Amino acid sequence: MRDLIVAGNWKMNGSQQFVDEMLSALNQVDFSESIKAVVFPPSVYLYEAIQQAKTVKVGAQNFFHEKSGAYTGELSASMLSDVGCEYVILGHSERRAIFCEDDNLVAKKVVATLGSRLTPILCVGETLEDREGGGYSDVIATQVKAGLSLLSADQISNVVIAYEPVWAIGTGKTASPLQAQEVHKLIRDLVTELAGKEVSVNMSVLYGGSVNAANAQELFSQPDIDGGLVGGASLKVDEFLAICSAAAEVLKR
Ligand code: PGA
Repeated sequence: MRDLIVAGNWKMNGSQQFVDEMLSALNQVDFSESIKAVVFPPSVYLYEAIQQAKTVKVGAQNFFHEKSGAYTGELSASMLSDVGCEYVILGHSERRAIFCEDDNLVAKKVVATLGSRLTPILCVGETLEDREGGGYSDVIATQVKAGLSLLSADQISNVVIAYEPVWAIGTGKTASPLQAQEVHKLIRDLVTELAGKEVSVNMSVLYGGSVNAANAQELFSQPDIDGGLVGGASLKVDEFLAICSAAAEVLKR
C-alpha cells in the first residue's frame, strides 16, 4: 500500500519561533497508523526541527547533486542525511523558473539521493500556457521521464512524485479534483511504463497548488491522489493540522 503524505513546503518563510510553534503543535498529534506528515523548513532550521519532531518527518527544499567540493552556498545529500532529513523536494517549479533548473539537472539531483536516506519528491507541472494550449500531458510526460531517466526500475520505487500545476501554485486557483486526478492517472501510467505495475501502484503521487483545509479532503479522495504538497497553508498551524486531519479521514474510508 502506498503512503498518504501531507508535506508542508515553507519555502523562504518562517523563523525559529515558527519552528517551535509548528513542531509543538504537530507533536500533539498521533500519526502512527495514519498518514505521514512532513515539514520542509528553510535549511537553517532543519537541525532544530529534526531535534523537536516527534511525530512527523523533516525534509529539505533542495540540495546540490555533487558529493562535496567548491560549490559555495550549496548542501549535499549526505549532509542532509547526516542531520536526519528524510525527504527532499526536487524540481519545484520555483527552482525551475527562478533558479533555471532544467530537467537534466533535476535528473542528476534525483539520482544523487540514492545511497542517502533521502526520499526525493520530484515535482512536475505545466504552466497556464501549456494548460490552455492543451499540451499539458506532453509537458508532464517529458518532466516525469526526464526526472526518472537516470534511475533503474527498482530505484524508481524510492521516488515520490508531486503534480503541481504552475498556474495553481500560490494563486488560490486549485486544479479541480477531476483535473488533478486525470494528470495523476497519467503519471501513474507513465511510471507503469517505466518501472512496472508493482512500482506504480506503490508510488505516492501528491497534488500541490493552493491546497487548503477546505479542498484537501476532496482532492485526496481521488483514486490516484495520495496526499499533498502544501505551500501557503502550511504556514498556518491550525490550517496545516486541519489538512492533516482531512487526509487522515480519507485514509479511514
Ligand atoms: P501553494 O504552494 O500551496 O502555496 O500553492 C504549493 C507548492 O509550491 O508546493
